[in-house]
Amino acid sequence: MKKRSLVSINDYTKEEQLRILDLAEEFEQQPTQKILQDYVVATLFFEPSTRTRLSFESAVSRLGGKIVGFSEASSSSVSKGESLKDTILTVSNYSDLIVMRHPKEGSARFASEVATVPIINAGDGANQHPTQCLLDLYSIRKTQGKLDDLDIVFVGDLKYGRTVHSDVMALVNFNVRFHFVSPPELKLPSSVKKYIKDKNLEYYQYTDLNEAIPKGDIIYMTRIQRERFSDPIEYEKVKNAYILKNNMLKHSKENVKVLHPLPRVNEISLDVDDNPKAYYFQQALNGVYVRQALVASILGVK
Ligand code: CP
Repeated sequence: MKKRSLVSINDYTKEEQLRILDLAEEFEQQPTQKILQDYVVATLFFEPSTRTRLSFESAVSRLGGKIVGFSEASSSSVSKGESLKDTILTVSNYSDLIVMRHPKEGSARFASEVATVPIINAGDGANQHPTQCLLDLYSIRKTQGKLDDLDIVFVGDLKYGRTVHSDVMALVNFNVRFHFVSPPELKLPSSVKKYIKDKNLEYYQYTDLNEAIPKGDIIYMTRIQRERFSDPIEYEKVKNAYILKNNMLKHSKENVKVLHPLPRVNEISLDVDDNPKAYYFQQALNGVYVRQALVASILGVK
């Protein structure tokens, strides 16, 4: 993985993904190690973020590295009309690795083609979110003790949900059964479903969340993302489609964990937070260890 960009989760093989998870376990045991003193990591966020940006910055800081970057395009020269290409070429001069989030699908791939340092895609529009995927795999393996022979329920915005797209593309390498719960207008795109079909894995589609809950070892909730809708009326129609309430988990498996990439709006009721089956805040913490493993691998120090 040394010096290699991560734009799509498929840029890394299953074995390489598992190596990151194994290394993340080591960082979880010892998250503070001064192994990145000689490195500068740039975080370029053209779209809002709390977890991805701050967990990358926390990860690098705990390893002794330096951070440069911006958290919104308006504070960079993009606001003066500078192109993405010029921005990436310039920041390549100032850093050893660039972590970038951008609202446009394909922007991370473009950046990786012009950059002179590796690019980590921290989310490109509705396309991919590979580092969230790695921390989701880590969270699933940590809570279930395995990645094979599991039933995974994905709920919410499966059309625009880049996290779901990356997760499905990675999970087809394991023997999982998929359960997709969404309004008809937010179904998983056929381009992503193709990965499941190509591996002859089972998948089921639902509109009723209660029907899917008893099936899951993992219930992966997602937000209906207002920012992805061009028509606000269409968003209003589906925004409250699924709200997971604590009493709905009465019919769930004993081992189930509720995951969510966060931020949540109202799709998980606050009364779920105290249920031991809720795992979304620990999931966000796992992001630090996984991103430490990824950065250390790409920079070649682990
Ligand atoms: N999960 C995730 O990408 O969260 P942020 O948008 O806060 O980074």
